[in-house]
Amino acid sequence: MNHHPPQRYRAVLTGAGGGIGSAIARRLAPHADALLLVGRQAAPLRALQAELGSHVQVLCGDLTAPETLAAIEQAARAAGGLNLLLNNAGVSQFHSFQTQSPDTIRAMLDTNLLAPMLLTRQLLPLLHQAPSAQVVNIGSVFGMLGYPGFAVYGASKAGLKGFSQALRRELADSAIAVRHFAPRATRTAINSAAVDAMNNALGTAQDTPEAVAAAVMEFLAGTAWQTTMGRKERFFVLLNRLLPALPDNAIRKQLGLIRQYLPK
Ligand SMILES: NC(=O)c1ccc[n+]([C@@H]2O[C@H](COP(=O)([O-])OP(=O)(O)OC[C@H]3O[C@@H](n4cnc5c(N)ncnc54)[C@H](OP(=O)(O)O)[C@@H]3O)[C@@H](O)[C@H]2O)c1
Repeated sequence: MNHHPPQRYRAVLTGAGGGIGSAIARRLAPHADALLLVGRQAAPLRALQAELGSHVQVLCGDLTAPETLAAIEQAARAAGGLNLLLNNAGVSQFHSFQTQSPDTIRAMLDTNLLAPMLLTRQLLPLLHQAPSAQVVNIGSVFGMLGYPGFAVYGASKAGLKGFSQALRRELADSAIAVRHFAPRATRTAINSAAVDAMNNALGTAQDTPEAVAAAVMEFLAGTAWQTTMGRKERFFVLLNRLLPALPDNAIRKQLGLIRQYLPK
């Protein structure tokens, strides 16, 4: 079936209290009849709700806990169903892989990969009830271009992209489109001071969360199955697929500088 983006959204947005999530919530709210904001911390979600209006609801919970997924389904059902699931919550740690703690490694895969998969699974029956619906997974350029210090984060985001593609094909004869949006470096709290300093030293372009949210809104209204932010980033992702030795060499040259910032 062809994907026809809905004009009005009934949406679940995870990680809504964060940098990119809150910017998306602000842009999405005027186009939504119902918007459920999900995150662990109540304060930023409540503040958004007060700002955006009574069609916005808040659900506080940890997405790695099965009861949170069930509570989201219940809340979405009570709100009259949904036609948009935006899997945006995520965590990151820039670290030397050899000394990264196994608990942190598990938490990153749980939050960035398993949680969106299990939430999607939980909400598919409701999404199927909508005349047209979409699942949008927020990935990362690092899921398509492996980068030092981001081995686990990159693996989680590469997994999310693979999941998005396969499920999109599995649901190709349904009214649910599964789509993937990859931001590049963005100025939010997910990036440690070391990452910010490294990005500045490397001259890496960094978007504002507002710019990412504007691009997400455009993406929602379109039909492409995936997009990546930044012309240069799109070029490197393509090069990485076609001629990976070139990014190997370019990143090898940056490694000395990266190591100055990489926590050991
Ligand atoms: N900023 C970047 O440079 C960048 C680049 C590419 C992709 N991305 C992706 O963009 C998305 C949004 O990130 P951001 O930059 O806006 O980071 P952020 O400001 O840290 O926001 C992430 C949000 O996810 C929520 N979250 C994390 N773990 C959770 C859990 N277990 N259960 C429920 N909520 C959880 C956090 O809220 P609580 O702590 O309240 O739970 C937080 O509000 C992420 O998927 C990230 O990987 C970011």
